[in-house]
Amino acid sequence: MTNSNMPRICEVNGKTRVVVILAYPATHVRTPTFFNALAAARDLNAVLVPWQVAPEQLASVMDSLRHVENLAGVIVTIPHKQSIAGLCDELEGIAASLQVANVARRMADGRFIGRMYDGAGFAAGMKREGIELAGCSVLLLGAGGAGTAVADALLDAGVGRLAILNRNRERAEELVRRLRDIHPQSKMEAVDDPRGNWDIVVNSTSLGLHAEDPLPIDPDCLPRGCTVAEVIMQPDETALLRAARERGCRIHKGVHMVTAQIELLAEFLLGSEAKTEGISH
Ligand SMILES: NC(=O)c1ccc[n+]([C@@H]2O[C@H](COP(=O)([O-])OP(=O)(O)OC[C@H]3O[C@@H](n4cnc5c(N)ncnc54)[C@H](OP(=O)(O)O)[C@@H]3O)[C@@H](O)[C@H]2O)c1
Repeated sequence: MTNSNMPRICEVNGKTRVVVILAYPATHVRTPTFFNALAAARDLNAVLVPWQVAPEQLASVMDSLRHVENLAGVIVTIPHKQSIAGLCDELEGIAASLQVANVARRMADGRFIGRMYDGAGFAAGMKREGIELAGCSVLLLGAGGAGTAVADALLDAGVGRLAILNRNRERAEELVRRLRDIHPQSKMEAVDDPRGNWDIVVNSTSLGLHAEDPLPIDPDCLPRGCTVAEVIMQPDETALLRAARERGCRIHKGVHMVTAQIELLAEFLLGSEAKTEGISH
């Protein structure tokens, strides 16, 4: 998909199905690059464009989009993943149980059906890179939209212990409460202390998007030999990953989460023509 000889975007014409990605800000989004390359490579007449939409305008934008007949659907990212769940007419799978979504398909009658693929994308990305999750002790930084989905996917993959640390502790506790309903047998807790004998540390906060951001964790708290995974994909290597690499940790970039889930998003939005093999929902 990243081969420079490949077409990067389909020829846009009157039959092109349009997908928009709603973000605020939108300058960091990389999903269109991957989605459009996939559509072009598979000869799908579809295009993804970024729209910068402020949180207070999300409801009215979604309402208007109901009337756009060639809209296949919307993908959403920070900060819309929780709000979009409330704006969908129906939620499927983990989106329904956790009330968070990153994609909504527009049906012919203008209804939106939401799903959440961040978790499946994260777990598939780890698997593709040969990182085993089952039985691991994991510290998850962040409990927002991406963190919620990643936490669920980590428990699905059978991690041995999941500790969630979030700036707003109540949000981490609330997430643990919701996850307990879905994974009653799993060992999980909200924590304040980032120190521990972690096999894997995952950053799912938005810290690292901007050069001036503080690190989401003091690198001295990273056990030597652990794997440090990012959800942030812009910059490609965040300050946290750099610090972790310098400490001798294995690093796992945020880009793997999007490349692994882009095929699932395309299939959900565009139907069986975009069907893929190898990743389960
Ligand atoms: N690679 C991919 O495919 C992929 C997919 C999805 C998302 N992402 C990335 O994941 C990141 C988070 O997205 P999201 O949708 O989960 O956003 P979100 O729902 O707004 O959650 C943001 C999270 O970051 C924390 N946070 C924000 N500012 C902080 C600060 N100054 N100090 C400490 N914690 C802070 C928040 O903590 P509080 O609860 O305390 O506010 C919350 O846990 C974004 O950078 C997004 O681009 C990547």
